Amino acid sequence: MTRSAMNQVRPLHDLHPSPSDMLAEVIDGLSSHPRTLPCKYFYDARGSALFDQICELEEYYPTRTELSILKQHAAEISQTIGPSALVIEPGSGNSRKVRLLLDALESPAGYVPLDISGEHLVEAADKLARDYTDLPIWPVCADFNQSIAVPKEASDAGQRLLFFPGSTIGNFGEQDRQALLERFAQLCRPGGGQLLIGIDLIKDTKRLEQAYDDKRGVTAAFNRNLLTHINRALDANFAVDQFTHRALFNRDHARIEMHLVSEIDQTVDIRGQHFAFKAGETIQTENSYKFSVESFAENASHAGWQFERSWSDPENLFSLMLFSVERPQNS
Ligand code: TRP
Repeated sequence: MTRSAMNQVRPLHDLHPSPSDMLAEVIDGLSSHPRTLPCKYFYDARGSALFDQICELEEYYPTRTELSILKQHAAEISQTIGPSALVIEPGSGNSRKVRLLLDALESPAGYVPLDISGEHLVEAADKLARDYTDLPIWPVCADFNQSIAVPKEASDAGQRLLFFPGSTIGNFGEQDRQALLERFAQLCRPGGGQLLIGIDLIKDTKRLEQAYDDKRGVTAAFNRNLLTHINRALDANFAVDQFTHRALFNRDHARIEMHLVSEIDQTVDIRGQHFAFKAGETIQTENSYKFSVESFAENASHAGWQFERSWSDPENLFSLMLFSVERPQNS
């Protein structure tokens, strides 16, 4: 690695996201009706690897479709956004998708990857810096559900552009989604800014359900790995093989629901607490909300976002939507 490449990555700005109380959250979820489990615990090392595999599956169209939209409409997207944007990406992970955006944009002012995992964040930032040697990078370690902030030195660099791809917004329930969109708007408000967000569109049930229940069983393994993770981290004794993966599209709520269904009557013990399952009883592990361009624009408008434009693929599977907020008149 050359020195000049390393120079681009500014020191980690650490907001010290407070560690979560896994035991309390798991007990809480299993005690509620219907039973749930927090989806953030999908992502241990094996879960993260399985998730990467999901994104490559034939049935899982969102990742590849979103990338194709970015490629196909790069020039127009770049023109609509304008030059010198400061790109901020909450939940940046491996910072792979942002490359296409950075390639498309006219002289981006900098990149602020924001992620809860400090270690991966710095690694991903270093990797990006090797290929984008002129781009200032300000990594921020934060839980975007708790707080988002842009380092002072970055804040005057350019117009803020929030990048939130992957239809991650669909994994939030209505209230949390609204709160997050408001927090995003707050972050952009001082100088005005934009939001480029990936949205999975409502479509036929079969196509949707197959995307979350692939032939090879990768998504099933991903869902069940949540129990393996909990067994290991909390000395629990879920009989992982006795839970079946189920994904179904709930059209009334416009969401894919992922469940784990207990195949038998069984009792699960977690640190002295017992949870009795009847055969057929389910744990709801994740929702993935789907939208129309109109319904999402409506959602975002309640958080202060003004709809600018959207781009879709020819089959209308997925949409990239661009919004803006203006700087307040009197500041
Ligand atoms: N946000 C994406 C989606 O809902 C990716 C994702 C999150 C996902 N959790 C998942 C995909 C579980 C498959 C299974 O599609």
